[in-house]
Amino acid sequence: MKLVNTNFHIGPLQIADPTVMAPMAGITDSPFRRMIKKRGCGLVCSEMISASGLYHDSGKTFGMLRHAACEKPFSVQIFGAKPDIMAKAAQLAQKAGADIIDINFGCAVKKIIKTGAGAGLMRERQNAKAVIRAVREAVDIPLTVKIRSGWDTSGEDAVDIAKTAQACGVDAVAVHPRTAGQKFSGKADWRIIAAVARALSIPVIGNGDIRQPEDALKMIRETGCDAVMIGRAAIGNPWIFCQIHDLIAGRPLTAPDLEMRFSGIKEYVTDMIDCYGQTHACRLMRSRLGWLLKGLPEASRYREAITGITAPADVHAILADYQERLSGLCRTTDSTNPITKSA
Ligand SMILES: Cc1cc2nc3c(=O)[nH]c(=O)nc-3n(C[C@H](O)[C@H](O)[C@H](O)COP(=O)(O)O)c2cc1C
Repeated sequence: MKLVNTNFHIGPLQIADPTVMAPMAGITDSPFRRMIKKRGCGLVCSEMISASGLYHDSGKTFGMLRHAACEKPFSVQIFGAKPDIMAKAAQLAQKAGADIIDINFGCAVKKIIKTGAGAGLMRERQNAKAVIRAVREAVDIPLTVKIRSGWDTSGEDAVDIAKTAQACGVDAVAVHPRTAGQKFSGKADWRIIAAVARALSIPVIGNGDIRQPEDALKMIRETGCDAVMIGRAAIGNPWIFCQIHDLIAGRPLTAPDLEMRFSGIKEYVTDMIDCYGQTHACRLMRSRLGWLLKGLPEASRYREAITGITAPADVHAILADYQERLSGLCRTTDSTNPITKSA
């Protein structure tokens, strides 16, 4: 028996599962999204993409729109404060294959809010409305916004801005219930997600501090949100999405074994090389592969080795060595399998 309502849709787009990967700059690029999607995530989103960069035809910014067929439905998050530029950027993203446009109302980085973009839009309500309206008119695919609880200490901001977004034709709202001033400190106040969910008729996606699969179910029950969005917890545990689906379906949790873990990591390596080419991929993987080894026995030694990789062969050799080492540990510890325990 399913424990929660799983009929999650954004506009006319039916999403297979009520789980969403949070957009994360420097993390949720195409290889990461492919890995997450293959592990059961209902909806993946790009990193935040500069509307101005798209508008001014920056090759690097356009590169961020690249995605693989397996990532679909694919949401593209844009940031900016100028309605005409945001509208044009949304059109360009749609043309590049986006299935959903998401507007960033949450980035609290100084240089972004200084321009009125990101969380700056939560402060400038009239402009926020103009941005949403312009983007809504520019594209015919579903539109979402990702907001914080407010600019300062007021949780009222979230309900107010979410209602405005709904009135302007937005199809779903994601809520990360921390103020701009809080950035990532303190605790996400899930009562604000509940208040937004009560106030809106469109779907609400709850976000913030889901660390374990059980937290996702707790958030859905406590707030009445239609789907959960997971950020930091998925960096080290891309299996969290299928684990949440296990809980929703009332099944025992999938604990990735050694083979599942390493085949996932190897697929990620292949996708990184496919996306960035060998040299750049190796440079990026020096830090990124460490995310996927976190919590495993003796991981620090292998993470250290990975920081020196210069070619794919180096990565494969280190991973093969580590997998062999862990297989040995599994054989000796048997009943307290160190791999599944750390998942
Ligand atoms: C490294 C990092 C990068 C992020 N980049 C973005 C971004 O590009 N767009 C956005 O809306 N939020 C961004 N966020 C916020 C996350 O999407 C999410 O709202 C936040 O991490 C809370 O969720 P969590 O507790 O599940 O991590 C970022 C967060 C982190 C930690």
